[in-house]
Amino acid sequence: MNAPIDPTSTAAWAELEAHKSAFAPDLRGWFAADAGRVERMSLTLGDLHVDLSKNLVTDEILSSLVRLAEQTGVAERYAAMLAGEHINTTEDRAVLHTALRRPAGTSPALVVDGQDIDADVQAVLGKITAFADRVRSGDWKGVTGKKVTHIVNIGIGGSDLGPVMVYEALKPYATAGITARFVSNIDPTDMAQKTADLDPETTLFIVASKTFTTLETLTNARLARDWLWDSLAAAGTISGDDASRADAVAHHFIAVSTALDKVAAFGIDTANAFGFWDWVGGRYSVDSAIGTSLAIALGPDVFRELLAGFHTVDRHVAETPLAENVPVLMGLLNVWYVNFLGSQSHAVLPYAQQLHRFAAYLQQLTMESNGKSVRWDGTPVTTETGEIFWGEPGTNGQHAFYQLIHQGTRLIPADFIAVANPAYPLKDGEQDVHNLFLANFLAQTKALAFGKTAAEVEAEGTTGALVAARTFAGNRPTTSIFAPALTPAVLGQLIALYEHITFTQGVIWGINSFDQWGVELGKQLALQIAPAVEGDDAALAAQDASTQALIAYYKANRK
Ligand code: F6P
Repeated sequence: MNAPIDPTSTAAWAELEAHKSAFAPDLRGWFAADAGRVERMSLTLGDLHVDLSKNLVTDEILSSLVRLAEQTGVAERYAAMLAGEHINTTEDRAVLHTALRRPAGTSPALVVDGQDIDADVQAVLGKITAFADRVRSGDWKGVTGKKVTHIVNIGIGGSDLGPVMVYEALKPYATAGITARFVSNIDPTDMAQKTADLDPETTLFIVASKTFTTLETLTNARLARDWLWDSLAAAGTISGDDASRADAVAHHFIAVSTALDKVAAFGIDTANAFGFWDWVGGRYSVDSAIGTSLAIALGPDVFRELLAGFHTVDRHVAETPLAENVPVLMGLLNVWYVNFLGSQSHAVLPYAQQLHRFAAYLQQLTMESNGKSVRWDGTPVTTETGEIFWGEPGTNGQHAFYQLIHQGTRLIPADFIAVANPAYPLKDGEQDVHNLFLANFLAQTKALAFGKTAAEVEAEGTTGALVAARTFAGNRPTTSIFAPALTPAVLGQLIALYEHITFTQGVIWGINSFDQWGVELGKQLALQIAPAVEGDDAALAAQDASTQALIAYYKANRK
């Protein structure tokens, strides 16, 4: 594997340093002086219209950023990923989530490490969609012969966030009378509340875990199994002996995992388990068998359209020159903000209530990928990395945290996402409510870019100290992403867009964006501390003073 190229050693970096030292952002002036700016900086990516013009860049800065991508080998590393090279160095794995959405029959077939990846992917996809059809048609029945009406996906991290986000986004497509729920937290509240009103006879649990070792997921799977057994036995539906319990599990549990041996050990028939591969990272897995809940609740056609959306963007990234490559340009803009303008966070603000879990999903994608301080060869990074991604849908966010984006002291680049056609075109009398909604999206991006000068405030009659309070500096950067509607294909394009933005930033920083060692220590310590919480004195004595005191507080207050 090639050593990472230190971005700070490149000629492009020096150019960007020079741009920064002379930098005087002036979106008002740039727009006034340059009638072609919007057209030049608006790009098409599949069904997405992406307007970069309200970013704090000139053409010269953009050119230097593109040279930075060239000089740090972004295109080469993308090609290495697509070809199945083991770019996940710390786990010695290929990174092939892009293979999950290659259309059937793509030629030549993708063969990696002697394995026909395309054939494997299509085989599992065929199995998932056939199973989804069985559940949706009622051919698959619960232990008492009833059709499934509720599916409960049990998973966490990548085995939860993607499916929840997509389900919420595409709920208008869930028309087959099957509702999905998602249990992730080991806080027993999550399982208790999500099963409280369910009928066990019509509920199907999907245990989704790449490793099938995750504490939260396996604990919740056992809780769900107990709930199933107890409620069926209480209703007299099963006798409660081993055979009837096994039969209940066989009818009400399926699994998704790369570890089918562990699935069998849990008691789930591997005929009802869907596999994937170690070359799919958890946070890149919503388009693998981890999306089985989606194929069932939304339907196989929707799931395939989602995959096609991802593929549109994969092709764009592979085939488009860097200077017009949307995910690469957006990744480069993020590098400009983080490494040259000092921004520490990035807001993602969908003007689409259906995307209300999009920021939560992106947090794992971006921060588990690029929240690193060492490079892929084990040496320290040479720059700041991994900004904090966060956000909420508009207009809710406007009434919460936008104040800080507009007038605070921090630079917070923001992505606004909107669709032209709402899923629910409601009217308030004669007023099309979506028009009002989108007027807010347009107003916010305009206010952030162009602000309001003191002279404009004074012209409205404001005087004294209030003038400063009512002045908006502007030059707050935004990208606007617009689509005709939130279709499955558009959603796939949006997700893939952010996957490749994340990849671009990771390559420039020299990061392996596909491991996550930073989550391990807390997991190990939780297992060591659990006995201390249970009452093991030796385990308690091994803890630091603060942890001991917190355990003492817990025990004193736990009824
Ligand atoms: O939190 C760490 C992590 O490994 C994530 O990367 C992953 O998505 C999540 O745990 C769940 O893992 P699994 O699918 O193996 O249960």
